[in-house]
Formats: sequence, C-alpha cells, structure tokens
Amino acid sequence: MKISVIGAGYVGLTTAACLAQIGHDVFCGESDIEKLHTLQAGVMPFFEPHLEDVIADSRKSGRLTFGSTEEAIEWGQAIFICVGTPPLGNGDADLSAIEVVARMIAKRAVGYRLIVEKSTVPVQTGAQLRKHLAVHRTQKLDYDVASNPEFLREGTSVEDFLHPDRIVVGVESQRATDLLREIYLPVIDQKIVCPIHSECPQRKAPRFLVTDTNSSELIKHASNSFLAMKISFINMVSDLCEAAGADISKVAEGIGLDPRIGSSFLQPGIGFGGFCFPKDLQAFVRIAEKFGCDFALLKEVERINQSRVDLLVEKIKKELWVLRNKKICVWGLAFKPNTDDVRFAPALSIIRRLLAEGAHIQAYDPEAMDKARKEIPEVAYCQDVYEAARGAEAIVLLTEWEEFRKVDWTHLSTVVERALIIDGRNTLSRDDVTTHGFQYVGIGGVSGAPQMSAILANG
Ligand SMILES: NC(=O)c1ccc[n+]([C@@H]2O[C@H](COP(=O)([O-])OP(=O)(O)OC[C@H]3O[C@@H](n4cnc5c(N)ncnc54)[C@H](O)[C@@H]3O)[C@@H](O)[C@H]2O)c1
Repeated sequence: MKISVIGAGYVGLTTAACLAQIGHDVFCGESDIEKLHTLQAGVMPFFEPHLEDVIADSRKSGRLTFGSTEEAIEWGQAIFICVGTPPLGNGDADLSAIEVVARMIAKRAVGYRLIVEKSTVPVQTGAQLRKHLAVHRTQKLDYDVASNPEFLREGTSVEDFLHPDRIVVGVESQRATDLLREIYLPVIDQKIVCPIHSECPQRKAPRFLVTDTNSSELIKHASNSFLAMKISFINMVSDLCEAAGADISKVAEGIGLDPRIGSSFLQPGIGFGGFCFPKDLQAFVRIAEKFGCDFALLKEVERINQSRVDLLVEKIKKELWVLRNKKICVWGLAFKPNTDDVRFAPALSIIRRLLAEGAHIQAYDPEAMDKARKEIPEVAYCQDVYEAARGAEAIVLLTEWEEFRKVDWTHLSTVVERALIIDGRNTLSRDDVTTHGFQYVGIGGVSGAPQMSAILANG
C-alpha cells in the first residue's frame, strides 16, 4: 500500500522504515529542513539500534523516500501522523503540530485518505480531528480518522515495531479497520523478513485489538501512566528498604515473581525520564481533570519521581560534604541505555543541580554527548569512562549502559582522586566494585546489592 508518514522523529522514522521493511511503499515527510537533508544524504539524525540498516535497505529497494510534508500528504492512501506532542507549561499536550498537519491534509489531499494518529494524544483528539477536517477540507477529500498508538521503546524500537505484543487501533468505520489490518498483516502473521534475528525467537502473534477512537487514545496514556506508577512505587519501597535495613534487590525480586505483578519496571533508581513518561503522566492528569476526575494517585507518582533527583544529590553531598570546586565524574546522560535521547533525562537535572553547587562535571556517555552538549555546554565531555574519572572525587552512574559494567576497575582506581561509586541505577555489582577498593553507594538499602538480571531497564 502507498503510505505516508509525517514526522521523522524516533517514532516516525521507525514507523516509516519498518512499514517499508514489511513491503509498503512509504513516503516520509519532515518539516525540519536540516533533518530532511540529513536523511536524504543517508545519515541518521539520532542513534537507534538497527534502524540505520532498515532505512538503508528500504531506500535501496525503492520503498522508502524522504521529502516535504506536502509531498507526503499527496502520496499515501494512509497518512500516519507522528509529529511531537510536547508538554505545555500547564502539563497539557501541545497539539499544534497535529493541527498544522490536519489543516494541510484538509487543503491538499485529494480522494480517500485514512488519517492515523500515531502521536500520543489526549482522548477525544480523533473526534476533534474529524471536526477540524470537516470544517477545512475541500470537496475533493474523503477520509477516515483512526487512532493507532505507538508502544515502541527507544533503544529497541525496530524490534518492538516488528514483534509487538499488541497493535491497538481505534476506529469508527469498517473501512478503516480493514485498511489498518491490511497494513499490519505481515506483522500480525509474523511473515516478515526480520532485520534483527536470523531466526526470530518463538513469539506469539500480536493481538490486533480494535476499539473506538476514544478508548484507543486512553489506552496509550493509561499504559504509560501505569508503568510510571510501577517505577515510583518501587522507588518508595526502595527508600523504605534503605531506612529499615532491607535489601531492595531481594524485595523487588520477591514482588516480581508474582505473575500478577511481573518483574519488569521494578528497578529502583533516579526515576523515569524521556519524551514519554513525564509528559504523558502530566497530560493524563490534566485530561482527567478536564473530565472531572481528580487523578491524585498520578500526581503523587510525579512528585515521587521528581524527588529522586533530590535524593541522589543528597547522597552525593552526604559523601562529599561540600561540592564547590570538586570534580565529579558522571557516567551516562541519556534517559536510558541504547538511545542518545536526553529529553527530560534525570541525568541532566542532576548535573544542573551539581553545577549550581559549584561542582566541576566530567561526563561520558556512549551515544548522548552531542545532544547533552547542546543542553549543558559547561560540562567537560570526555572520550571514555577513564578520562571522565580522572581526578574525580566520585563517579556517579546515571544511565545503565552495558559498557559501565565492563570497566577495568584496577585501572580506574589509579585515575580517580577518591575511589567512590554512587550507582544511581543499582546496575553495578557491589562485589566487583568493592573488591577493587572502591566504596559503593547504591539505592535502596544494604549499599545497593547487585540487581537480578530479569528486572528490565526502566523507561
Ligand atoms: N519517542 C518515543 O519513545 C515514543 C514512543 C511512543 C509514542 N511517542 C509519541 O510519538 C510522538 C512523536 O514522538 P517522537 O519522539 O518521535 O518526537 P520527535 O520530536 O523525535 O519527532 C517529531 C518529528 O516531527 C517533525 N514535525 C513536526 N511538525 C511537522 C510537520 N508539520 N510536518 C512534518 N514533520 C513535522 C519534527 O520536526 C520531528 O522531526 C509524540 O506524540 C510522542 O509522545 C513517542
């Protein structure tokens, strides 16, 4: 099918590339001219495992093209809107980019179009879009509006798109349902040439869940809010463990073994960040308010999350006392591993607090330094873990990259001023660290015991 994708960000680019990978003819429209030229030159605008290869293959086979939003609108029978919905000052989602695209579709598209909201939007946005299109469309446009929320995770987005647990579609007509089923059929049947696995691990076919548009929109906000709630819950339990002399790694393991709870998202730490959880949580609270529901539970989830930054800064101060003029090494800047995304990353909030106290920050992240440099230029960005640790009075781990578990502790101990690790993600083995003479400070009791591997990364 001829499909258009509007917006070449983390979601749009993955959607465009993967829809091409499963056999569709995709045109991806992007309004940021610099980003568009980067993509047309075959260069990735951000880091995402496997995505570069999928894009290169799809472009080679002629199934993926990049161009302007106008060209994209003229191209596809289905148009996936994947533009950003950032938070406004009051927590509401800013839907202005969606509105701009809707108006362009209304004015330019000719014939039938299935308009699919993939961006995360408040409940009743689909209804609003239908009204807006009805007001602004030319007589030449016939359309359906559907919701198809995206559940991919940065760092595993290609895998998540091609091997999802569920595909949720919110529709108001049989025509829209049939088209969306046709688009996703190769994924539903798992009849795909997988660019990640030579032999895909045994997986259940994803559930194709058809709902009305309002319910589909709510599913996305409710899912992210629930996961955020799990993280804030385990963080509070971890504080209790620390105060009461229990071990959070064991407590989390014991809780997670209950299949009704599950072990994922039970890793204590410095809290969630990124472009989804913080803004979606705020937007969900605001949406509930508008419909007369006081979602106080989620306000508390947000408050707990924000307090994780204070907690880590206090842990650092407890060890170092005065921060002024002290060199502090930071490992990890991205909001989670395997991405270069630093939007709403707790690491950046912590660094800003340490800088405000007069500390000198030497930071290293395998992928996110270019993006972090634009946000906080006053940090010294280093080539590797050792350069960042040189002369430092503490190494503070803020993103759980695999690389940090593989450092040469003996060499590291020769470059630091003081052998102290503050592990904001409880990701290192306390035994590894302490046998090499480092003091280890973790989160949640008993100086942060090593975590069970089954607990998945937050975010
Ligand atoms: N990032 C994630 O992990 C993730 C996961 C699920 C859902 N979402 C949701 O998906 C949406 C997009 O998120 P993202 O992370 O990809 O954002 P992003 O900021 O990385 O990408 C948005 C892109 O849209 C482009 N754009 C804006 N207006 C445009 C227009 N008129 N025409 C063409 N392009 C336009 C921007 O230039 C940008 O490249 C958001 O609603 C987000 O909440 C994100």
